[in-house]
Amino acid sequence: VSDERLCSYDWIQDAENVGSVKRQLAHLFEVSLRTTVPSEPDIAPLVEPCAAKSGVKFGDYQCNNAMGIWSKIKGKQAEFKGPPSVGQAIMKNLPPSDIIESCSVAGPGFVNVVLSRNWIAQSLQRMLIDGIETWAPRLPLKRAVVDFSSPNIAKEMHVGHLRSTIIGDTLARMLEFSHVDVLRRNHVGDWGTQFGMLIEFLFEKFPNPEDVNEAAIGDLQTFYKASKVRFDSDPEFKQRAQQAVVRLQGGETRYRDAWKQICEISRTEFHRVYERLGVHLEEKGESFYNPHIPGVLEELNKKGMIEDSEGARVIFLKDVNIPLIVVKSDGGYNYASTDLTALWYRINEEKAEWIIYVTDVGQQQHFDMVFKAAKRAGWLPADDNSYPKATHVGFGLVLGEDGKRFRTRNTEVVRLVDLLDEAKNRSKTALLERDTAKEWPEEEVEKTSEAVGYGAVKYADLKNNRLTNYTFNFDQMLNDKGNTAVYLLYAHARICSIIRKSGKDIEEVKKNAKIALDHEDERALGLHLLQFSEVVEEACTNLLPNVLCEYLYNLSEIFTKKFYSNCQVVGSPEEGSRLLLCEATAIVMRKCFYLLGIVPVYKI
Ligand code: ARG
Repeated sequence: VSDERLCSYDWIQDAENVGSVKRQLAHLFEVSLRTTVPSEPDIAPLVEPCAAKSGVKFGDYQCNNAMGIWSKIKGKQAEFKGPPSVGQAIMKNLPPSDIIESCSVAGPGFVNVVLSRNWIAQSLQRMLIDGIETWAPRLPLKRAVVDFSSPNIAKEMHVGHLRSTIIGDTLARMLEFSHVDVLRRNHVGDWGTQFGMLIEFLFEKFPNPEDVNEAAIGDLQTFYKASKVRFDSDPEFKQRAQQAVVRLQGGETRYRDAWKQICEISRTEFHRVYERLGVHLEEKGESFYNPHIPGVLEELNKKGMIEDSEGARVIFLKDVNIPLIVVKSDGGYNYASTDLTALWYRINEEKAEWIIYVTDVGQQQHFDMVFKAAKRAGWLPADDNSYPKATHVGFGLVLGEDGKRFRTRNTEVVRLVDLLDEAKNRSKTALLERDTAKEWPEEEVEKTSEAVGYGAVKYADLKNNRLTNYTFNFDQMLNDKGNTAVYLLYAHARICSIIRKSGKDIEEVKKNAKIALDHEDERALGLHLLQFSEVVEEACTNLLPNVLCEYLYNLSEIFTKKFYSNCQVVGSPEEGSRLLLCEATAIVMRKCFYLLGIVPVYKI
């Protein structure tokens, strides 16, 4: 299934795919296009929400096909004199539908659509009854791998890994919500020559095997650094370390056990971070793919892809000026041989249709080469729009206040746990400054400050386009005004308190009241709520969590600045309907929080 086909008739026909306004309109326009230009059955409808031009909007959505069609059929269908007449015909041929209130043709043939208020209201009401899951987008694939976080054993888990963890988790959540079976893979660096060096160093330090326990080697990074110094300065040690690699890879028990133990210690440390962040991952580290490497390289060799170059075995790729080394000159495998094998495994053994890698942009060339090799091998189609496909989701750097790579005062790299501690402590202090929170039980204060603190760290990362660098700033991310998680979490809590203070049982209101959208600001809120599904779909398709953040922030703004400022809720004649709008807003906000990995708060 290619991306263009996302808008095709049969796809939109999917009866369960009811959430997206855009898809439902695209369906109507598709029907119209088939009648308007029967000679061009492949033209897909181009439907987008209208952008407000100088504050004025001519509709809610726009169909943009007239000009393209005109350039194709100029002179072939006599009734058309130019794009506007094509637009008129598209409008006239729309099948009757209760979605549309009115249409008009503007400029060079745009068909503007004003949605029916009644239909928006009914769609919201139905969601309140059937649940927001009914608004989940349907993507044209069944299974995906999201390869994220993936720190290296015995090395520091740095802010780059934090970004990968946060972005990867969100992408996995959004795909899972969209009915994709997601394999969340932690591709930890648990294999390679560095282990020889580290193990040899530990054996020297702890001659008695029983002493090599978690307490003794708790600080693996320090040992790692020290072993590296030894390795670089002492040729005798270097030789022993290289032999250790051979003995480890040969499966010698003592070496295997030490390796396992080192991995276990790192794993425990990583888990502490994941637990705090509420992130779940399944580890299949580099070592997992190791036994499959020879077979995969053999396959590539048979396909004539592998050549000798300066003692190494390499693959030359089109439009890349360096070769992809798959066997080093010492005969060992490397990062690339593992990734090629992992990709093969994910496509052929795990049957994943979309394999997504979340790392910093610095690894772009590596993945580009691996994907090119996979295409040459025929594992992936040449065309990037068809499945199975592999995508590198790159992200920029985290910067400190000085504009350089983010570091804390006394350590070279930021320890993730310290960072999360500080976020939590700062939000706790701010929380306890509020009068209301002073009487809360300790446990509630703890839970709220964690939700706010960790949520702030995540949101500050996710709200930027992932490719841009961003500056890590506690004051900014913990501000309760502006586009921050704190502001959004509190906005949600305030909506919950409006509902609580009304004294009404919202389940009863759902049964007895009907949503009406007579006020312009009620309509604006209703329409924005209804766009949730297509926004999630866009965020999934383009792998851009910031699209969802922007939607969430706008939702909160429309609620607060338009709806809640101009439409009295409690005590008004429209109370029932407006409470339902509050409830729908809270539900959509919570789903956004969930998809962004943020825990909501209900009270402030
Ligand atoms: N361990 C690598 C690093 O820390 C990231 C691994 C990403 N995933 C992969 N399949 N290469 O840079």
